[in-house]
Amino acid sequence: MRFLALAFAIILSHAPRAYAGSLGAQGGDAPEEPFLSLMGRTKLRVPIATTTDVDVFASSSYSASASPGAPLLVFLHGFCLPDAEQQSYSVNALRYNAGGGQIPRQQTLSQFNADWSLDVAERGPFLYAAPTAPHFTRKCALCNIGLDSPNAGDMLTVRFINSTLERVAPAWHCPAWDGSDACCNPEFSGASDDVEYVLQLVDAIKFRHNVDPDRVYLFGIATGGFMANRIACQAPESFAGIATFAGSVWAEKSRCDPPAGASTNVLNIHGDADLTVPIEGGVNFAGVPFPGQNKTVDTFATTFGCEPAIASPPGTVTLPVGDGSAQREVDARVVTFGGCANGVEVEQWTLPGVDHFMENPTSYAMFDAALEWLASKNRRDHRSVA
Ligand SMILES: *[C@@H]1O[C@H](CO)[C@@H](O)[C@H](O)[C@H]1NC(C)=O
Ligand SMILES: *[C@@H]1O[C@H](CO)[C@@H](O)[C@H](O)[C@H]1NC(C)=O
Repeated sequence: MRFLALAFAIILSHAPRAYAGSLGAQGGDAPEEPFLSLMGRTKLRVPIATTTDVDVFASSSYSASASPGAPLLVFLHGFCLPDAEQQSYSVNALRYNAGGGQIPRQQTLSQFNADWSLDVAERGPFLYAAPTAPHFTRKCALCNIGLDSPNAGDMLTVRFINSTLERVAPAWHCPAWDGSDACCNPEFSGASDDVEYVLQLVDAIKFRHNVDPDRVYLFGIATGGFMANRIACQAPESFAGIATFAGSVWAEKSRCDPPAGASTNVLNIHGDADLTVPIEGGVNFAGVPFPGQNKTVDTFATTFGCEPAIASPPGTVTLPVGDGSAQREVDARVVTFGGCANGVEVEQWTLPGVDHFMENPTSYAMFDAALEWLASKNRRDHRSVA
């Protein structure tokens, strides 16, 4: 029997403690702790010293002893969508002003296929973890609920967030990554230990399971995209590649300040019809600015010492659209900055007509294309690793 019987991980006591200490205390070989075998996929579990354990999905081909180990993909969720919600929730809605057009288009709010978390491990194959942000917020930094706000047309987002809150967080208690001073945990404004949390999680997974340390990837959407970019600024060398959809970064370029010489591959994807995190940038509810896609990409290209951008011809990355769409397909504008420190690259995909929420076929194809891009990156190819 390939998959082991149900076994539960050690549950941490509630007493706060430093994670590194608990790793040291266990010592020895990294213990495998299969948690659940689900339709041929093994679900593993890693205790981490914050609120709850984090589930890790493994593919059917995962081996605890193969060399090199499995690539690891960590996914950072959107605003108010904790792990389980993000992975299983799928709401389709007609958003009449999506993309600025008059044609109603069916869009998914979850930005995921309903069984994504199960599929994604097989697709890499990856070890796959989607942790929930460790801190909560009581403010919706980008909701701009006021009718006079730039996002007044974005009532679907607001209604979605309101109904999510009613279901999962009636006291407006919403897990949100602290990605920058603008988004999306105003209680911390970019000063929390969320970067350390994600790095500790990666270390904990590496300690317990057979991870290829040169193929650890991060993917963040929206609020999670801000967070992934904050990590790309602070600890790029911890990942072989970092991809974001609909995120942004510090408005002040000097705050993107990695250790000298450190860099990673960055893929920045944004729809040019995004009403929630506008592609040209904007401000949060308190007037704190966040940069648009061009400036975000420029921040990484200059921070990582890249050469000027080269545009790819049309048709390089195309994504399907839903039935009845005004567009035939989404033909991304692809721009690549090569020649960066350590041989990494920074790439920008601008998706014409794509909003913060996408039509289902566009959404699924975008995630597949981004995962393929990430999976092609390997730190062993970097000229030197900081
Ligand atoms: C969402 O909730 C806020 C806070 O309770 C409320 O002010 C706002 O009117 C709600 N918006 C919508 C569109 O339901
Ligand atoms: C980003 O830069 C491209 C190339 O210069 C330009 O065509 C596009 O309009 C810019 N996008 C925004 C939102 O400013």
